[in-house]
Amino acid sequence: MSKMQRDFLNDAKEAEAAPPPALTNSFSAVDGDCPEKKSLSDNEPKLVASSPGSTEDSSIFDSTTDDLSEVTSVDFTISEKSSTDFIVIETSKCTVEPKENDSESLEDGESIKKDSSESGEIVKPEKVQKMVRLQSNENMSDNVNLPKAMSLKPCPSVGTSLEIYDYVMRSNGGGGENNGAAMMEEAWERLKKSYVYFKGKPVGTFAAMDPMAEALNYNQVFVRDFVPTGLACLMRDPAEPEIVKNFLLKTLHLQGWEKRIDNFTLGEGVMPASFKVLSNSHQQKETLIADFGGSAIGRVAPVDSGFWWIILLRSYTKCTGDYTLAERPEVQRGMKLILNLCLSDGFDTFPTLLCADGCSMIDRRMGIYGYPIEIQALFYFALRCARQMLKPERDGKELIERIDKRITALSYHIQKYYWLDFTQLNNIYRYKTEEYSHTAVNKFNVIPDSIPDWVFDFMPLRGGYLIGNVSPARMDFRWFLVGNCIAILSSLATPAQATAIMDLIEERWEDLIGEMPLKISYPALEGHEWRIGTGYDPKNTRWSYHNGGSWPVLLWLLAAASIKTGRPQIAKRAIELVEQRLSKDGWPEYYDGKTGRYVGKQARKYQTWSIAGYLVAKMMVENPSNLLMISLEEDKKIAKPKLTRSASF
Ligand code: GLC
Repeated sequence: MSKMQRDFLNDAKEAEAAPPPALTNSFSAVDGDCPEKKSLSDNEPKLVASSPGSTEDSSIFDSTTDDLSEVTSVDFTISEKSSTDFIVIETSKCTVEPKENDSESLEDGESIKKDSSESGEIVKPEKVQKMVRLQSNENMSDNVNLPKAMSLKPCPSVGTSLEIYDYVMRSNGGGGENNGAAMMEEAWERLKKSYVYFKGKPVGTFAAMDPMAEALNYNQVFVRDFVPTGLACLMRDPAEPEIVKNFLLKTLHLQGWEKRIDNFTLGEGVMPASFKVLSNSHQQKETLIADFGGSAIGRVAPVDSGFWWIILLRSYTKCTGDYTLAERPEVQRGMKLILNLCLSDGFDTFPTLLCADGCSMIDRRMGIYGYPIEIQALFYFALRCARQMLKPERDGKELIERIDKRITALSYHIQKYYWLDFTQLNNIYRYKTEEYSHTAVNKFNVIPDSIPDWVFDFMPLRGGYLIGNVSPARMDFRWFLVGNCIAILSSLATPAQATAIMDLIEERWEDLIGEMPLKISYPALEGHEWRIGTGYDPKNTRWSYHNGGSWPVLLWLLAAASIKTGRPQIAKRAIELVEQRLSKDGWPEYYDGKTGRYVGKQARKYQTWSIAGYLVAKMMVENPSNLLMISLEEDKKIAKPKLTRSASF
């Protein structure tokens, strides 16, 4: 039996889903992108090298990023080999010729893009003036190691042979370039339709607009779900920041509500998981209803909402150059309240944040209680974004000092104790236990027998990742995509670790990307572990939903991380996969099966963040300077732990 047949049978066993739709050649001949917007090109390798981290990201208004204020299109080229940590991308600048009275916006050097539509001026490409510094990997393999098997596969039920399929793909421009333009158009249209209005203004997007499924709470605006939509609106050329601003202010307003669950009042800073607009057509009145966890399955407050809110506020400021929003007293207060929740003194011996299961994107019990990497990475990201936006007035100075200390402690802890690669795995495998005193090597008294068998096979010689959770006598070795990508974007992961994470994705492409990008977690909990880890959750059966399911929304995170690490090919290949099916399948929320072949058992169709995630990924690949809206440079001031080096360093 061939590997492909075996895979198919495995998948068929794993997921009890409807057979995949017939594969038809439906790539339409739609015009490509506009000529001003040059796509990434791999044809002419060239590199301008700069020393690693030669500038610091101490402010959103820093000199490195100011340079990018006018970049709207990027000629992206990469060298074959470099010994430096960073690639410099040469950019073609598109400038809008200034009108006499246009000086205000042109002087404003901090915004990333200019809105050319209002002035109606012609956009002219100008030659290389600005540079985007992105991290490169040491050996710049850029996918040389991707196994052949990961190339696009035919759908077995159609009976198409790989050769014919490859031919079809080639004659359609290599897997969806044409399809891509049509899909972008469709995606924008659908995104617009999902807007939620309050008093005539767009304030967010529905989570999903599936006409065939019960709405449940998918007719609400989820804070975390809105982030890719917000980014898409900011990255669009010209940008559409209005909805983002309205969303930030509306959710801030909701934060001010008194939050009670039974007789207990939640912390002031808690941001809602979601909200909805109730319209009373008789009284012509609209009211807002918010959920802070009181209605959520499991009654867990969303720890990630506040962090995403701060991160999006920084993206908005970075894109528009409108600092007045972040500087408003109520916005400063909102940030402080969120941070106070996390920086208060307690019994902690770790700088990480102790969380209940289900407090983030994985909002059901999945054995991620404790110190999950997703929350720790978002916490770090939010701390660094807030650090740039908080004003040192009044109690601000003291808070900034606390933030600085926490940033240092948190990055040390994560980089040292969450990091796993071949060498580190071998160290843990040989750990002694029951060590006492501060000299202990096995600090958390992890019993080597608790290392699951799969990790030994999964761990490549080249590559590594931040594991899911670290706490006393417990290391959750599972891979979680969000935490790892956010660690790259926030520079919580060192440049070497970021490179190794992308190496791992390449080396384990079949497992982590498969047929539909991309796995939220790996591997799935099965049998006894599933019973204990999820509490017999029928929605989270193996290789489904949060338990090893594949979520198209995560494409934007992968794209951002791969561009930041100088590996845009990874993003492009993942996008190609998405373009083959996502629109045809009706933009589902998630896919099931070991390789993500089947539309998820309970997946909503027309899931907004699947649509927005695709748009953001595309816009970042087309114009890598968009990355700056959602990425932070490494902070050189933060002390680095000494790490053992494995093949991936
Ligand atoms: C599911 C997801 C959650 C998301 C929500 C709305 O509950 O687990 O992360 O925010 O749907 O899309």
